[in-house]
Amino acid sequence: MAPRVSFWSCVFVFALLLVSSLTLSVISAEDGEGQSEEFVLTLDHSNFTEIVAKHDFIIYEKAASILSRHDPPIILAKVDASDEVNKELATGFEINGFPTLMILRNGGKNVQEYKGPRDADGIVEFLKKQVGPASAEIKSVEDAGNLIDENKIFVVGVFSELSGEEFENFTILAEKLRSDYDFGHTLDGKLLPRGESSVNGPIVRLFKPFDELFVDFQDFHVDALEKFVEEASVPIVTLFNKDPNSSPFVIKFFNNPNAKAMLFLNFSSELLDAFKSKYHAVAKHYKGKGISCLLGDLEASQGAFEYFGLKDDQVPLIIIQNNDGQKFLKPHLEPDHIASWLKEYTDGNLKPFKKSEPIPEVNNEPVKVVVADSLQDVVFNSGENVLLEFYAPWCGHCKQLAPILDEVAVSFETDADVIIAKLDATSNDIPTDSFDVQGYPTLYFKSASGNLLQYDGDRTKEGIIDFIQKNRDKTVPLDSVKDEL
Ligand SMILES: *[C@@H]1O[C@H](CO)[C@@H](O)[C@H](O)[C@H]1NC(C)=O
Ligand SMILES: *[C@@H]1O[C@H](CO)[C@@H](O)[C@H](O)[C@H]1NC(C)=O
Ligand SMILES: *[C@@H]1O[C@H](CO)[C@@H](O)[C@H](O)[C@H]1NC(C)=O
Repeated sequence: MAPRVSFWSCVFVFALLLVSSLTLSVISAEDGEGQSEEFVLTLDHSNFTEIVAKHDFIIYEKAASILSRHDPPIILAKVDASDEVNKELATGFEINGFPTLMILRNGGKNVQEYKGPRDADGIVEFLKKQVGPASAEIKSVEDAGNLIDENKIFVVGVFSELSGEEFENFTILAEKLRSDYDFGHTLDGKLLPRGESSVNGPIVRLFKPFDELFVDFQDFHVDALEKFVEEASVPIVTLFNKDPNSSPFVIKFFNNPNAKAMLFLNFSSELLDAFKSKYHAVAKHYKGKGISCLLGDLEASQGAFEYFGLKDDQVPLIIIQNNDGQKFLKPHLEPDHIASWLKEYTDGNLKPFKKSEPIPEVNNEPVKVVVADSLQDVVFNSGENVLLEFYAPWCGHCKQLAPILDEVAVSFETDADVIIAKLDATSNDIPTDSFDVQGYPTLYFKSASGNLLQYDGDRTKEGIIDFIQKNRDKTVPLDSVKDEL
């Protein structure tokens, strides 16, 4: 599974935004609780152990409290996707990253991923727009000024009459994509801020805050229109900075199916312009060839740095993540290196980069610390029986398991053939071809002869010890351990 936007917030929570102009839709809670006082309807309860999670929670609360006074009402709801009882729900919605926001209409018949802003005001403004007509008529220069935000994508249909097949297809398009883009239509091209003004349609003109600033299109097949809007609204280089206007494009960048090239530097650097122009040329060259490009400001990218295991002193750097979850890194990049490095990548000449904590110099606790760089040696090449826990520092179930795992390790301390180990999965990359880690803690056992099994029994000392004894390969007499057990 390729991680997507999960560094926005690495908590296992997703939210549902329920929008309906006709009926008020509420998904019933697992536990049947009404929760009518809360503005965000809690469908299943989870405590937020991460600061980021708390932050998101507050945002939704604030947005929900404003929206609760809206007429017709817009309901915000959330579901804890990490809870076993909700797993099926999350799978049904194909949730891969957290938090994921979905928009549900018409009693849940129409489902779309929310790709709008993630701050309270942004969510409110965005959702208010969802309950009116999908496309607004532009009748004056003033209307155009009010509707067309020069920081956003805006799609206008210019028509000679507001009827006919072209107009209907445009309306279908607007309805379909309204949660991702703003739409308008007009009978007078002269009212628009950019482009040929004498045009009287039918034509679709897309305004964008980057690259060529506007682009026209005349094929009114619904599918062709949709493809046009999706493609024309992707910048050649997506900017990732602190400006909230950039966030829809960043989300879109991480959701696209291409390999992702990300160049990070300090935007205060005097080299910014040199990087911009070289990178833009390279990005243009690879557009439509399976690589998307992002340029990120160090100041805004701390979450990404943590997620990818990067260090501030490596900038300017470029990292590529492909769809197999492999990463390739070039630290201390110079503008003139970009094109040649990308060529090395496409030629398959680069070695993947993996995130790892340093191998600990002292490792004498009963439960051994394994990091990405020592995983191969300890787990696969040691010839021992190894029980390995994948954990996250913030995960409550992991904290509960820690003393139990300690006891298990102590009970095997005199048994040289059994190693109990743990790996912090938030700071180390996991080889996804061997391990399928969907939540924490995840326990794997590798026998001395190389049999790899996932442990999903009870998280008790007895359960785990039994499992190890049943599945281990006995290579030497085990008298001392038997005595202890
Ligand atoms: C989560 O927090 C709430 C409120 O602080 C508390 O009532 C509840 O017991 C907590 N739940 C867990 C599982 O710790
Ligand atoms: C409108 O869209 C439909 C469905 O894509 C298509 O069959 C039809 O030809 C379109 N009409 C025009 C005028 O392009
Ligand atoms: C970026 O560069 C500026 C100016 O040199 C500096 O003040 C700032 O601390 C740098 N930002 C980071 C995150 O290193």
